[in-house]
Amino acid sequence: MTALFTASDLVVRFGRTTALDGVTLAISAGDRLGIVGESGSGKTTLVRCLLGLQTPSAGALTRTPDAQLVFQDPRSSLDPRMRVRDIVAEPLTSRRLRSQYPRAVRRARAAEVLTQVGLRPDEGDRYPHEFSGGQRQRIAIARALAPRPTVLFADEPVSALDVSVRAQVLNLLTDLVDTEQLTLVLVSHDLAVVRHLCERVVVMRTGRIVEQGPTEQVYGDPREDYTRELLAAVPTLGSLDERGPADGLRR
Ligand SMILES: Nc1ncnc2c1ncn2[C@@H]1O[C@H](COP(=O)(O)OP(=O)(O)OP(=O)(O)O)[C@@H](O)[C@H]1O
Ligand SMILES: [Mg+2]
Repeated sequence: MTALFTASDLVVRFGRTTALDGVTLAISAGDRLGIVGESGSGKTTLVRCLLGLQTPSAGALTRTPDAQLVFQDPRSSLDPRMRVRDIVAEPLTSRRLRSQYPRAVRRARAAEVLTQVGLRPDEGDRYPHEFSGGQRQRIAIARALAPRPTVLFADEPVSALDVSVRAQVLNLLTDLVDTEQLTLVLVSHDLAVVRHLCERVVVMRTGRIVEQGPTEQVYGDPREDYTRELLAAVPTLGSLDERGPADGLRR
């Protein structure tokens, strides 16, 4: 399978901090990759490199696909002065896409993606503050989908949301990844979330990948003590195992 991203020996330094310390990773079309690890282990820095938002200090990176990112907190990632319709259509106004998406087509595409995330097209007239946290994250997802990316990155997409709506937003992501045949790269502190959405996982610690493999294998039989500790520290994992789909997450 062709790799959409290949990273070899990526190093990122911020002054005296080494945020990435020799990361080698390939992501292929159709992958559903989870990135887990303690706070400060370099997950976001790796994602930013893959998206071309962060220049590595050393190492090589190739990137062939179009990618979009869903941020952690829809409160800060959605411009409060813009109507939802314009927020969602905004990626289509980029220099690269502008000619493909004249105004009427942008409007139609905005209506289409709003519907896909469970909102009504006429709700595009409103502003972000008129929506709940879960709805705002749906709007952020709609915006990411609008330009029809090959790859969707999501960095802690539900951790800023109320627990009661997390499962709904995760189920939506799962459905969209299926129907749109997206490649998914998901960063989460919550290992249960990664288990639900991702078939492959990399475990990061102090800027390095310390373990990787199929999610079920890594979770079922972790090779590293560090991974074992991460798994033990996840309160929702135990409850998810016990309660299964009753927890609100669909398989
Ligand atoms: N722009 C920056 N300037 C200086 N240091 C940074 C910057 N971005 C990240 N770092 C540092 O690099 C390291 C890795 O940070 P990163 O944000 O990638 O971790 P993370 O795994 O995403 O953590 P979290 O789970 O808390 O989001 C940390 O020590 C962090 O303080
Ligand atoms: Mg982070």
